[in-house]
Amino acid sequence: MKIKSAEFIVSNSDVAKCPKSRLPEYAFIGRSNVGKSSLINMLTSRKSLAKTSGRPGKTQLINHFLINKNWHLVDLPGYGYARVSKSAKKVFQKFITQYFALREQLVTAFVLVDIRHNAQPIDLEFMQWLGEHGIPFSIIFTKADKLKPKAIENHIADYKTTLLETWEEMPNYFITSSSNGIGKDDVLQYIDGLNGNMELE
Ligand code: GTP
Ligand code: MG
Repeated sequence: MKIKSAEFIVSNSDVAKCPKSRLPEYAFIGRSNVGKSSLINMLTSRKSLAKTSGRPGKTQLINHFLINKNWHLVDLPGYGYARVSKSAKKVFQKFITQYFALREQLVTAFVLVDIRHNAQPIDLEFMQWLGEHGIPFSIIFTKADKLKPKAIENHIADYKTTLLETWEEMPNYFITSSSNGIGKDDVLQYIDGLNGNMELE
């Protein structure tokens, strides 16, 4: 899919105020600093469409971006950032969970995890929560440029082993890097496929 246009629409802390349109949307979620905003910039080939920072807690609101005038990308605040969410175990910021619980336009969520780390309880718990709420998701491994191919392979295998303790099968996943563009076409093609499927319904 070619990205012809990408524009910032609105920031919100209240799900009720998010765009009313029924356009299909895709949300990026994950721990602070995992690279959600960077990935949105990488996918759209825009340098600073979404604001990024080396300091965790940069994105504080629900940000809607309109792509090719017919679907939305949504940049969300990170969960598990100590200053925002005290207990990194069970408490996700209320409006994030409300976003997922209420946003009917959401086609799928992308749960981002840093490829360098082992499976973290907060990510597993969030995936569990999505599963319990019937919200489809894919995993996006980020920062693949930081590891050699063999290490990537090993890490994915370990991650799979952990996930298969609670999931019947490994969720759909992508390996990406916002620094070198790995995974860009795969993610865009996946979204394109889902957008196409919906038009047929
Ligand atoms: P919050 O908004 O704070 O929740 O963070 P975020 O998940 O949006 O992360 P953000 O995109 O702001 O990136 C955090 C830091 O990681 C920045 O310093 C980015 O430059 C860096 N980063 C993001 N993606 C990559 C990547 O693929 N490779 C490398 N090497 N660094 C990355
Ligand atoms: Mg961000």
